Amino acid sequence: MPGTRIAALGHHQPTRVLTNADLEQLVDTSDAWIRQRTGIATRRIAGEDESVTDMATAAAAKAVATAGLAPAEIGLVTVATCSAIDRCPSIAAQVAARLGIPSAVCFDLNNGCAGFTTALASADHSVKAGAAQHALVIGAEKMSDITDWSDRSTCVLLGDGAGAALISTTENDHAGIGPVVWGSDPARGNAVRLQDAWQPRFAQEGQTVFRWATSEMPVIAKDACHRAGIATTDLAAVVTHQANLRIVEALIRRLDLRDDVVIARDVVDSGNTSAASVPLALSKLAERGEVPSGALVLLFSFGGGLSWAGQVVTCP
Ligand code: ACO
Repeated sequence: MPGTRIAALGHHQPTRVLTNADLEQLVDTSDAWIRQRTGIATRRIAGEDESVTDMATAAAAKAVATAGLAPAEIGLVTVATCSAIDRCPSIAAQVAARLGIPSAVCFDLNNGCAGFTTALASADHSVKAGAAQHALVIGAEKMSDITDWSDRSTCVLLGDGAGAALISTTENDHAGIGPVVWGSDPARGNAVRLQDAWQPRFAQEGQTVFRWATSEMPVIAKDACHRAGIATTDLAAVVTHQANLRIVEALIRRLDLRDDVVIARDVVDSGNTSAASVPLALSKLAERGEVPSGALVLLFSFGGGLSWAGQVVTCP
């Protein structure tokens, strides 16, 4: 079996910034409450004319350009999303059409906030098995379409955006994408859900999710390192799902990391972008040069379902 690696990253966010002060005009909330309970200061919100496909395409185009690949070389395109309204053609097929990718297998994948790392593992397995040489894995969400803007307990959390990773075969099976840890707790699936199928709205049992994410997820995140054959102290960076800053901080405290490890805290600027949050945060860290090429990074996401997926990768 060949090895795999993330060859390039890309991301896209809408230009409109929604501040906590803006939210104070919409619902009975305050900047102080939002910052103290969630750490979020701003989030990006797409306009009516900017779709999940638009954001996914913009992020993917950057990854493809950085990798320097011809579109015809890409054999698999997958988009992790829970907010896209389009069903068929899939968002992945629409992205492929726009990027001139002629004949790749294209499919969308919905595993809530754990969607991107689940899709990354699926694409990784496909490439390792020889089903494609290069694969485009995208997380893209327009959470503002499925936000109840009258519900102060959820509307302060969510944001829009997209991130993409181009993965390729490599001769070197040390540099690459490690074994996935993935699973779910379906019995508690309703703790994070989209309710009302014909007019879906994000809903959650906030405290249940907080306890679950901070008590059960660290053990599984550590297991991703164990399966990759490394210690958590070998990590240069950790990019967890950007649910809220309190969850991120509580989770990383239990991972026994080095003091100089880089932690993704993109949730402060971008809010919770569900399946887009991990590739968005990783791409931004790499673009700013905060994580050097070749550094070991733990990707770990969790959420709706309840589900989780994560793996250790090397930064492109
Ligand atoms: N502004 C002001 N007050 C608010 C707001 C708000 N935006 N939202 C809720 N409140 C009020 C509630 O009405 C309640 O008031 P009451 O005591 O008078 O009834 C009070 O604040 C406390 O409400 P709780 O829901 O108990 O607030 P909590 O301290 O649990 O914080 C939060 C809510 C931030 C959502 C927390 O539960 C949490 O961090 N949960 C984790 C879940 C999460 O982040 N999910 C993200 C999506 S799922 C995922 O990505 C994995």
